[in-house]
Amino acid sequence: MAGFSQATLERIRAASDIVEVIGACLPLKKNGANFTALCPFHKEKTPSFNVNSQKQIFHCFGCHKGGDVFTFIRDYENIGFLDAVRRLAERAKIPLETDQNPAEQQSRHLKDELLQIHEQITQRWQNALASEASGQRARDYLAGRGVSAEAIKLFRLGAAPEAWDDTVNWAVGKKHDLGLIEKAGLIIQKSEEAGRTTEGRRYYDRFRGRLMFPICDEQGRVIGFSGRILSGDEKTAKYVNSPETPLFTKSKVFFGLDKSKRALLEAQSAIVCEGQLDLIACFMAGVQNVVAPQGTAFTDQHARIIKRYVEEVVLCFDSDEAGQKAAVRSLEPLLASGVAVRVAVMPRPHDPDSYIQANGGEAFRQLVAGADGFFDYYLNRLCAQNDVASDKGRSLIVRDMAAAVGKTGSAVLVDKYAQKTALRLGVLPEAVRSEFRKTPSARPVNAADGEESFEAAESEMARPSAVELHLLKLLFLHDDLVPWAAAHLDPEWISHPQTRQVVAQRLAAQRDETWQSLGAFLEACDSPGIRSLVTEAVAEERKLPNLEQQLADVILKLRNQWLDRKIAACLQRAGQPEIADADKLALLREQQQLREQKRMGIFAVGEA
Ligand code: CTP
Ligand code: MN
Repeated sequence: MAGFSQATLERIRAASDIVEVIGACLPLKKNGANFTALCPFHKEKTPSFNVNSQKQIFHCFGCHKGGDVFTFIRDYENIGFLDAVRRLAERAKIPLETDQNPAEQQSRHLKDELLQIHEQITQRWQNALASEASGQRARDYLAGRGVSAEAIKLFRLGAAPEAWDDTVNWAVGKKHDLGLIEKAGLIIQKSEEAGRTTEGRRYYDRFRGRLMFPICDEQGRVIGFSGRILSGDEKTAKYVNSPETPLFTKSKVFFGLDKSKRALLEAQSAIVCEGQLDLIACFMAGVQNVVAPQGTAFTDQHARIIKRYVEEVVLCFDSDEAGQKAAVRSLEPLLASGVAVRVAVMPRPHDPDSYIQANGGEAFRQLVAGADGFFDYYLNRLCAQNDVASDKGRSLIVRDMAAAVGKTGSAVLVDKYAQKTALRLGVLPEAVRSEFRKTPSARPVNAADGEESFEAAESEMARPSAVELHLLKLLFLHDDLVPWAAAHLDPEWISHPQTRQVVAQRLAAQRDETWQSLGAFLEACDSPGIRSLVTEAVAEERKLPNLEQQLADVILKLRNQWLDRKIAACLQRAGQPEIADADKLALLREQQQLREQKRMGIFAVGEA
């Protein structure tokens, strides 16, 4: 495994209890010896996601995803395996070997340095806001907007002084390499100019005279900034953000997520606001299940991140045209991720911040609670935008509704909204339905209806038999049974290809004495299909008596089934018209022998 020794990996594993690690991500419920939850990897209403504390594995009986603590973090956080190991190593405070690949190490090192710089400048700007003269305007501004001292502290707000070289001088004073500060996005290199000699004069500050909002990653580490203008000077942008840096990609980050995580999980619903100040206003009103994509566009990445926390989002964008357009644009990525969408419309001219200031937190809560499902919202919007009384207006409404509902790929929803649309337009449902049918529906965005059953059918075909699963369970849960199996079982008897493959691997590991543990095996396994097969087989632990007898029975059954298949194949071939008589005879004789073999049985239990 590139970068870490097996021993280190095992140390990290031993220090990363799977129930604790997963429990920090999802609400786990104790259920007998196991823990259960709604699966974070697929859409479901009843929990089929199992965590087995004794075996230190997880498995979902719904989507068949499974693995150990490393693969969980990898898949849950959407990161690479090495990053998952690193994440858990960090959590367990286990140092990793330094003999990693140099490029990897370098990028790690750079990120660490950038994180430190972000932390330091955050503190610097917090101090400026708290007590420096240069922070006075920002203090006044916050007071004017009613931001509390607690909120300022919680969100670590700061003030970037009004100067071209404040950050530059700060960095020089701290003996930071200015190239690095530039990489952090805090200063900008001046365009080529003659006569510049001192290092410091080649740069100027990105954030000048602004109220600073630190943007954190999901672990609460500052990775970027958004700075709001304090003057009425409309010549510069209202907000200036960090550029893309090795730490920060705007389209992948939610402002506030590090602080709203738990509330999201508890509510299973996320309120999505546009801006930082909207989110802070929600927090001050006691509403904490909020995230802000900072601006308007909700990306696929945003949708994937939010799906890990909640089943539903309530879009709570500004009441202006830009905000409403953003709500509509957000539909597709959200549908694709399988999250349900509702839309809370702020009465004009409000955004959540101003609405809460004007009407209080309770009114806001009610607005969110009463928010329409996305398609009802959209139908309302279309009817408000177009003339319902004119033919042109009506056909535009039908066209746009058809396109939006079509994106769900769900025939049921298409039909439901054809009816609702007809009702609003005062026409016959059948007319709208036939119009909806004409609209080529976009690719079915989600695994709804047709696609889902197709996938189900496909995985059905690839399912191992109950006997095969039982064999896996015995071999992977009871190491002491394996030597006997290795002496008596021919993997060829197993018909399910992946089961055959994994059993062969298990037996080979026994013979070669390379077997370590179930965890290490899952780790080294690079086929998700095989991994989930094994975790499925071992996930459900029953106390079973007389394991040796069970193993013998299972092996006998598999062997007999295999013989039956061969016998059937012989007979089938012998029955074909183009077969020569001699060959036919040979096939029949072979078939006889196979029957004989089957009759004789194979072994007595205990012989080895
Ligand atoms: N935004 C941005 N760049 C801009 C304008 C806006 O990144 N030039 C982002 C900010 O994250 C901002 C969000 O878009 O919070 C919403 O913009 P807007 O509604 O204009 O700002 P508000 O949050 O309402 O800010 P304020 O209340 O301070 O006007
Ligand atoms: Mn706004």
